[in-house]
Amino acid sequence: MTRIRADPKRQQLHWIRFDDGVERPVTVSLSSGTLVYGEQVISEEGRELRVWDPYRSKLAASLVHGLSVFAFSKGVSVLYLGASSGTTASHVSDLVGDEGIVYCVEFAPRVMRNLIQVCTTRENMVPILADAHHPEDYMQIPELVDIIYQDVAQPDQAEILITNAKRFLKPGGTAYIAVKARSIDVVAKPSDVFLKEEQKLKNAGFTIVDRISLEPFSSDHIFISMIFSGDIID
Ligand SMILES: C[S@@+](CC[C@H](N)C(=O)[O-])C[C@H]1O[C@@H](n2cnc3c(N)ncnc32)[C@H](O)[C@@H]1O
Repeated sequence: MTRIRADPKRQQLHWIRFDDGVERPVTVSLSSGTLVYGEQVISEEGRELRVWDPYRSKLAASLVHGLSVFAFSKGVSVLYLGASSGTTASHVSDLVGDEGIVYCVEFAPRVMRNLIQVCTTRENMVPILADAHHPEDYMQIPELVDIIYQDVAQPDQAEILITNAKRFLKPGGTAYIAVKARSIDVVAKPSDVFLKEEQKLKNAGFTIVDRISLEPFSSDHIFISMIFSGDIID
């Protein structure tokens, strides 16, 4: 017997409790009848609930660990850097709904093919084949966005986020970054790497709110939520 409850604080998010007591986040599918990554789907009262796997999505892992800043409400706009095949981006698409939009930047042509498939079943997801180092290549995005979500595992992750925020994030907007220590420095202690990256973000004008270790779902990662002052310091 499974039990589903609406999250009391985070609009659009639900949780499912399995028989063994484990709870997982769930989103209501915007595209009934289609699977994105083989996720478990539960049909209830005419809607499909997609179980969000924290081993496959760092945003889901951060929610399991109590992420406090949750800006993914209906109608918001998201710039997603490193969308890969659309696993996490598809859950974000569920959350922001038809009135919202998710601009999905990905630079690997192989995964882009899968991402385009997902985007054909979800009108609020826009695939963009581009390198997130070069936001000038996707200036066709016609607006400032409410959220930037970044998961690119690059040595200059913080700099990529800062460059994109300068161009695309609304003042007071929210940014999320999954920082992978080993992509930045293979020999340094992960805790030292994280401190350095956080300092870069603070120096650039972000206020850090959440700082969450993603163990045991993703090792050597922290997940950071931040509010953007709008006054990025060069
Ligand atoms: C860890 S995966 C992202 C997983 C995805 N966020 C999810 O949860 O479904 C990182 C992705 O970022 C992409 N990537 C890395 N560097 C990039 C860059 N500079 N510009 C665009 N995409 C990049 C990689 O090709 C890869 O698909």
